[in-house]
Amino acid sequence: VSSAQDHSTYFLQCITDQFVILNSDPSNVIYTPNNASYASLLLAQNLRAASTSTLKPLLIITPFYAHEIQAVVYCSKKLGTQIRVRSGGHDYEGLSYTSQIPFVVLDMRNFRSISINTEEKTAWVDVGATLGQLYYTIARHSRTLAFTAGVCPTVGIGGHISGGGYGMMSRKHSIAADHIIDARLMNADGQILDRRSMGEDLFWAIRGGGGTSFGILLAFKLELITVPETVTVFNVSKTLEENATDLVHRWQYIADKIDENLTLRLFLKSIRSRMHGNMTIQASFTSLYLGRVQELLPIMQEKFSELGLIEQDCTEMSWIESILYFAGLKDESPDILRCTSPTGIFERVYFKAKSDYVRKPIPMNGLIGIWRFLHEEGENMAEVQFSPYGGAMSIYSESKTPFAHRAGNIFMIHYAITWTRPKNGELENHVNWIRRLYNYMTPYVSKNPRAAYFNYRDLDLGMNNQSNTSYAQASVWGLKYFGNNFNRLVRVKTKVDPSNFFRNEQSIPSLSSWY
Ligand code: FDA
Repeated sequence: VSSAQDHSTYFLQCITDQFVILNSDPSNVIYTPNNASYASLLLAQNLRAASTSTLKPLLIITPFYAHEIQAVVYCSKKLGTQIRVRSGGHDYEGLSYTSQIPFVVLDMRNFRSISINTEEKTAWVDVGATLGQLYYTIARHSRTLAFTAGVCPTVGIGGHISGGGYGMMSRKHSIAADHIIDARLMNADGQILDRRSMGEDLFWAIRGGGGTSFGILLAFKLELITVPETVTVFNVSKTLEENATDLVHRWQYIADKIDENLTLRLFLKSIRSRMHGNMTIQASFTSLYLGRVQELLPIMQEKFSELGLIEQDCTEMSWIESILYFAGLKDESPDILRCTSPTGIFERVYFKAKSDYVRKPIPMNGLIGIWRFLHEEGENMAEVQFSPYGGAMSIYSESKTPFAHRAGNIFMIHYAITWTRPKNGELENHVNWIRRLYNYMTPYVSKNPRAAYFNYRDLDLGMNNQSNTSYAQASVWGLKYFGNNFNRLVRVKTKVDPSNFFRNEQSIPSLSSWY
């Protein structure tokens, strides 16, 4: 196929023919750029990724049935077209809907069924469902069953759970990927595999190594967890004038060691002080305790009395209400979590983010340097999150799943800069700012490799070539995300996808494509 126009015509012809053979109706499934819904279907969470990509997908395909996906795989192999699979569309770099070479988007939004087995304490969840829909459905069945995964309810199951899935209960129940007990995955031959037929190597790889490199995930079977009927939340904010630097410094010595029922997450940003009118730093200790307030208070008194937590700061609620609380939706009904549009709850924004792991507390002067960076970007623009590890995050060995960030990490850092209008030069300024901050943090964070969280995808860490990528080139980013598990991921990839059919800028390379 020579030109993009030819590519588009041939692909459309191929997929239309396949749909005729399958007796499938292409309306509401195949969208060409001429279709009125194409542009709105393409939009996803990060406007930056879409704005910097020049190539648009030849087609957007939103299948309802597995045989329609098989048709996409068939045409894509026949014509050498790349497939970008999208579940919730929250990829930080937009890799599920952008590409430098001709591609189609396989959007899994219609794969959204969820079935809960309360006796077995399990759930089968299709990849196109969102975290919010999963949480909502579990809560409809039980007040004491739950699932441990991310905070943002619009995030998709497919990308999030296959890439890790850290949330407010991870210190007690670890990450989402640790609770996958079965999966359905389509390989490059269009075969649908489950845990038994894919084998333990491939099943290992999709529990933290991401789905992208290995096939098209259709569904996960998840082990649910048990939570108390009543949990407690609080969000205590302190400014520099209220001793924020000392508190953040002290937090580093207790956050990973405190009772694992308690997650004290820290959100740091620059704000204008209401009292003094000056710019200051706000440190918000946003926390979940899996229990009642009367149990929480003595723990805080003993381990972190400096914060001065009192009963009036705390609210008792059900687990599902805590989901709304942490998503910034505390006045909404849980029904909002059912929202079917992946971006229907929150405004779309332009953003760039990066991550780090901290193994030794950052000294006071190191923290003060972070404050300077936050001030540079102005009020409410940039945010640095400290997410505590320890507890259940430390119980598994580094090689249990591809998610390697286990014992020894005190906390994970998430740096983010967000803006709403694409003014001239703004993108470069913001991206430069976050790169400078990342550079500044070098002495304070993990080394050799400098670890990063795969779900906080960052193309600055390194990228594959469009065709042949050497091990050396891919290991630059691969060792950061996966540590020593990267080598096993390469072995699995080589075995299950030797032709490197499933690939993107940060997919695991196949050995056969090294030379
Ligand atoms: P998307 O559909 O964009 O896919 C992400 C990647 O997975 C892409 O490479 C895609 O091709 C691949 N993929 C998707 N579906 C697939 C499938 N069915 N088969 C094979 N490959 C597939 N993380 C976290 O751990 N805790 C948190 O609290 C949050 N919070 C959060 C908030 C917001 C606003 C954003 C934008 C992101 C987060 N994240 C997060 C990060 C999130 O976990 C990460 O972006 C996930 O990859 C998103 O999964 P989606 O399915 O939504 O993304």
